[in-house]
Amino acid sequence: MAQLIAGNWKMHGLGASIAELEALIAAPRPPSATLLLCPPFTLVAAFAARAAGSGIAIGAQDCHPEPSGAHTGDIAAEMLADAGATHVIVGHSERRADHGETNAIVRAKAAAALRAGLVPILCVGETLDEREAGLTLDVIGRQLEASLPPAAGSGIVIAYEPVWAIGTGRTPGVAEVAQVHAAIRRHVGAGPSILYGGSVKPVNARDLLAIADVDGALVGGASLEAESLLAIANAAP
Ligand code: PGA
Repeated sequence: MAQLIAGNWKMHGLGASIAELEALIAAPRPPSATLLLCPPFTLVAAFAARAAGSGIAIGAQDCHPEPSGAHTGDIAAEMLADAGATHVIVGHSERRADHGETNAIVRAKAAAALRAGLVPILCVGETLDEREAGLTLDVIGRQLEASLPPAAGSGIVIAYEPVWAIGTGRTPGVAEVAQVHAAIRRHVGAGPSILYGGSVKPVNARDLLAIADVDGALVGGASLEAESLLAIANAAP
């Protein structure tokens, strides 16, 4: 199966940024990778319209658990599907930290995505303190236990993102990534794809993507320019 190379644009991108999507559409892309771009909400509909038929999928970075209601400023999974999104990131560590999202909230958001026909990309990962205390596998296990919706099956994607690797230029070693991905695989079974995220760059993508049970990457900073996202996609085995 092709690896999933997902770009998380975070709070970056204005209307003119569609030029990056257009560059991705125009470029030759390897059959070993499927591209997904998750721009901010404001760009989802325009990007989805532009990407239609290109083979590039468009997703969002968060959704509300409810399908509609009195929740000023929030966006429902159904609205994202209506705008043309096929995926949505839930439980990113920046949302867990900035918005106090608990595992229970993340589970409700993942369930909302499934309800709306979207593929949730459920993020888990340990902090540096947790890693240094030898708690990585416990933390990941607990996050999965408490944030995976029941019977999610293969319609969900898991992203392992060590919090200390996000935006820092630091990544775990190959053996450390392999150990966590193997533990996630044991937990979720054969169905879901498991992405690695945290400082994935063109220079380290080949090594990271070749690790057993790494089925793709969730890329932040290096996804903002088509050229570096394509370089990562070209490193998919
Ligand atoms: P980064 O972000 O690639 O900039 O480290 C990854 C993420 O937060 O998804």
